[in-house]
Amino acid sequence: MATNNRTPLISGNWKMHLNHFEALKLVQELSYAVSTDDVEVVDISLHPPFTDIRTVQTVLESDRLPFHLGAQHCHFEAKGAFTGEVAPSMLAKLNVSYVIVGHSERREVFGETDEMVNAKVKAILANEMIPIVCCGETLEEREAGEADDKVRTQVTAALKGVSPEQVGALVIAYEPIWAIGTGKTASAEDAQAMCATVRAVVQEISGNDAASQVRIQYGGSVKPVNANELLTQPDIDGALVGGASLEADSFARIVQYRLHENDSTS
Ligand code: 13P
Repeated sequence: MATNNRTPLISGNWKMHLNHFEALKLVQELSYAVSTDDVEVVDISLHPPFTDIRTVQTVLESDRLPFHLGAQHCHFEAKGAFTGEVAPSMLAKLNVSYVIVGHSERREVFGETDEMVNAKVKAILANEMIPIVCCGETLEEREAGEADDKVRTQVTAALKGVSPEQVGALVIAYEPIWAIGTGKTASAEDAQAMCATVRAVVQEISGNDAASQVRIQYGGSVKPVNANELLTQPDIDGALVGGASLEADSFARIVQYRLHENDSTS
């Protein structure tokens, strides 16, 4: 397949880890571990817990570090009586660029529906941030041959009412649920096949331009040892990384996946 113009996006989803002191330390370590050469060829986003975002924003901006600020979640309403929730505009005010939407942990543990995901995608776009829309199947669904249908349904619902231009600018993360935090990674072939399916769905809904522009990440036990194989697949444009993003060394080696073709050290 021909090369494309999509800049890979490597995102660190810190989940519910690291207080703001620990976050500051990790960002500083990352600033030494990642070079300016690295950030010429990949985009990097960091998604700390809400309580760390202001701290991370301050260090990124004062030290002019080449990482985009991200969030893990937000509400779709602009304001109101939603105890514990955070509005998209509050994130935009902190110069957040990317917001993860519909992570399987949000869907499974907190009951987020496809309709809520769609409302969040629109709210994030309205606040000029980029959604990272997650999709992916359970092990049972994969074994029953339903993985394609599940992902097709999730992506179709998430993009409802979103213009082709907006779809082209967003990020979709394919994360098979059975591969998250388990150490089990999808084979490069399976990950590529599912990311190609996601691109085909985008093409059907939003047309050729959107399909060739949308960035599709793979997520699920991405480590330095498997990053090269996964991220050099033609339809995989980056990674959404959980556990391995919590250490500067392993995250930097994923960012530098091009240099680590035969890395078997972790
Ligand atoms: P792990 O990399 O820890 O498997 O987590 C993946 C994930 O859920 C990223 O959003």
